Amino acid sequence: MASVIVVVLAVVYLFIPAVVCTEDLWKLECQPTVGIAAQTTDIRCSIRCPIKCSGHIELVGVALTKVKQEKPVFEHIINETPSGDPRFSLVNPVKDPSLQLSDTVFSDEGEYEYYVATNMGEKTERLSISVIAKYRDPVTNSWPESVTDGGPVDLYCNASDGYPAGTIHWFDKSENNLTINSIMTKSIKDTNGSKSVALSSKLPFKSIHSILAPFRCVVFNSKFVKEGEKTFQIMLKWGSEQEHSNTRNIVAGVMVIGSLTAGLLFALLFCRRRSVQNVRQASAQPILSDYDPGKTADPDLETGTETGTD
Ligand SMILES: *[C@@H]1O[C@H](CO)[C@@H](O)[C@H](O)[C@H]1NC(C)=O
Ligand SMILES: *[C@@H]1O[C@H](CO)[C@@H](O)[C@H](O)[C@H]1NC(C)=O
Repeated sequence: MASVIVVVLAVVYLFIPAVVCTEDLWKLECQPTVGIAAQTTDIRCSIRCPIKCSGHIELVGVALTKVKQEKPVFEHIINETPSGDPRFSLVNPVKDPSLQLSDTVFSDEGEYEYYVATNMGEKTERLSISVIAKYRDPVTNSWPESVTDGGPVDLYCNASDGYPAGTIHWFDKSENNLTINSIMTKSIKDTNGSKSVALSSKLPFKSIHSILAPFRCVVFNSKFVKEGEKTFQIMLKWGSEQEHSNTRNIVAGVMVIGSLTAGLLFALLFCRRRSVQNVRQASAQPILSDYDPGKTADPDLETGTETGTD
């Protein structure tokens, strides 16, 4: 009896893969692709099917067609020479429908239909490709180049050759966010389908204080991902008379403000004490003069309201 069951199970087990796979249970799945201009882009697709099935599926051919176009941009029948755009290739021509695209350009952006034929049927999936370009490392300068402490200056942070438009943020030495005071300029270039944006951010100061330095500018791409940053010092005109007098002025200012504040606090404290005493005296007198031994008055209540017993 037991041996019969084993035989039956073995037969069923042998047939399961064939049954499952021919039942057209597999799926083609492609992830949205973000390519970087001039780099190689991976277009990840996969065949999803029950574990027993996956070992049996083999690619027969693939074709990638841009939506609304007739002719595929890439076609590869396995064991034949691929045709179409030679920048496309299958990563693993037997098992994996994923594609690679070298030297990605902006005109690769768009919606595609991906047709995959296997020994167990065929499928078509939509996939999208978008293309971005990374910003170069930011470059910074100040105008004027050498700065007088307390004097005016414009700080610049520029990042070029990125796409789409990103943004630049500013911080001082103590990580204070100075972005709100900055002025952003974005210049968009489009030369033969190669799009790029040059970002330039100006941080103007009417009166800069060297204690805020070094400054840091951070470049974000259009998806708000940090792409680069630069920390930079301002070049001070050291030894200038103005420099020293400014420092002296600041120190003197701090001392004056400090003593004023202390004096004010003292005065406040003194007045408060006086008024508290006055209130105490004022509230104590009526209670004492209206004192009636027949009534129980709550001495804490300045209004003199009576509290009933029980
Ligand atoms: C950044 O761009 C501004 C405005 O175009 C320019 O005045 C400045 O010199 C540039 N700075 C650098 C370091 O390229
Ligand atoms: C800095 O300020 C800018 C504009 O005011 C804001 O968009 C940004 O989120 C701030 N960044 C941080 C890190 O607080």
